[in-house]
Amino acid sequence: MIHVDESTVVLGIETSCDETAAAVVMGGNDVLSSVVATQIEQHARFGGVVPEIASRAHVEAMTPVVRKAMSDSGVAFERIDAVAATVGPGLVGALLVGVAAAKSIALVLDKPFVGVNHLEAHLYAALLDDPLVEFPMLVVLVSGGNTLFVNMVSHGEYTIVGQTIDDAAGEAFDKVARFLDLGHPGGPAIDRIAREGNAAAIDFPRAMLHDGFDVSFSGLKTSVVNYVRKNPSVATADVAASFQTAVVDVLVAKATKAARHIGAKTIALGGGVAANTLLRTQMSAACATAGWRLVLPSMAMCTDNAAMIASAGWYRLRSNGSTSLGAGALPNLKLTDTAN
Ligand code: KG4
Repeated sequence: MIHVDESTVVLGIETSCDETAAAVVMGGNDVLSSVVATQIEQHARFGGVVPEIASRAHVEAMTPVVRKAMSDSGVAFERIDAVAATVGPGLVGALLVGVAAAKSIALVLDKPFVGVNHLEAHLYAALLDDPLVEFPMLVVLVSGGNTLFVNMVSHGEYTIVGQTIDDAAGEAFDKVARFLDLGHPGGPAIDRIAREGNAAAIDFPRAMLHDGFDVSFSGLKTSVVNYVRKNPSVATADVAASFQTAVVDVLVAKATKAARHIGAKTIALGGGVAANTLLRTQMSAACATAGWRLVLPSMAMCTDNAAMIASAGWYRLRSNGSTSLGAGALPNLKLTDTAN
């Protein structure tokens, strides 16, 4: 097994959805470069990500993105110790582009390839700025495809405490934004317009608030649709602010409950919805009251990027060694499945 230490340099590649990203990270946390080419514009007019367009755009962007990540890092290809890529979960065609690129580079450089679980990488995004965490850590992973409350017992060791039983938090933001004609992706649009609205204007439901650790957002989305249909003259900013507050109330309440349940020392946020202004403020307030240390990823590390892939790759390489070059894409990978 390859020796992994603070000087080990990993090139990370991410292509699970609509961002082509490459990054060079040393020692698991020292980000030497991070380049993200987003396809948001190419998908915007369809109101969501189109898998075929995503795969083609990854193929086009891959070489320039990797080249830029290498030149920004100031590191020569020969200095790379391992190449990591997201193997899942995600869109299969999109994943295959990154996996094939990473395996090719690894083969040419004669260095190990590491398959990374995208969800595990989101957990590591928060640690890039603040690696000295105390376990157990509750990670609130809130993205377009997932809403998970994860007990991170130590590096690579997770149990899921709670999760959504239907829509992910980001999916709810996106669906409500589409209904309100605010464009795609919906989270940033709702976050922006909500600042001008009255969060107490409409009392939307907080589903399952006192019920276990799971959450549900599909009823909330339906109640927004029903309310707006019944009250067509309502201000969009008020709907956005009231909806956002309902989502954040539930996430903060469940995170607090889960943190108490596992005896957490630290709470971390991860995933695209971790960029939400209200969620960051409310979680900070809840943690200050309860005395938990809160680790917030920088805004750039909330959404998909390759620095978190290289970082998770470094930890995986250290604990499990490399992944076989025969490994493929795993579109349905779960957090608790190992990618290598
Ligand atoms: O983690 P991510 O980039 O992609 C995956 O799903 O893997 O997350 C994207 C999601 C989208 O649903 C987007 O609407 C949401 O994160 N998002 C936000 C904000 N920024 C991005 N949701 C709420 N507030 C935001 N500021």
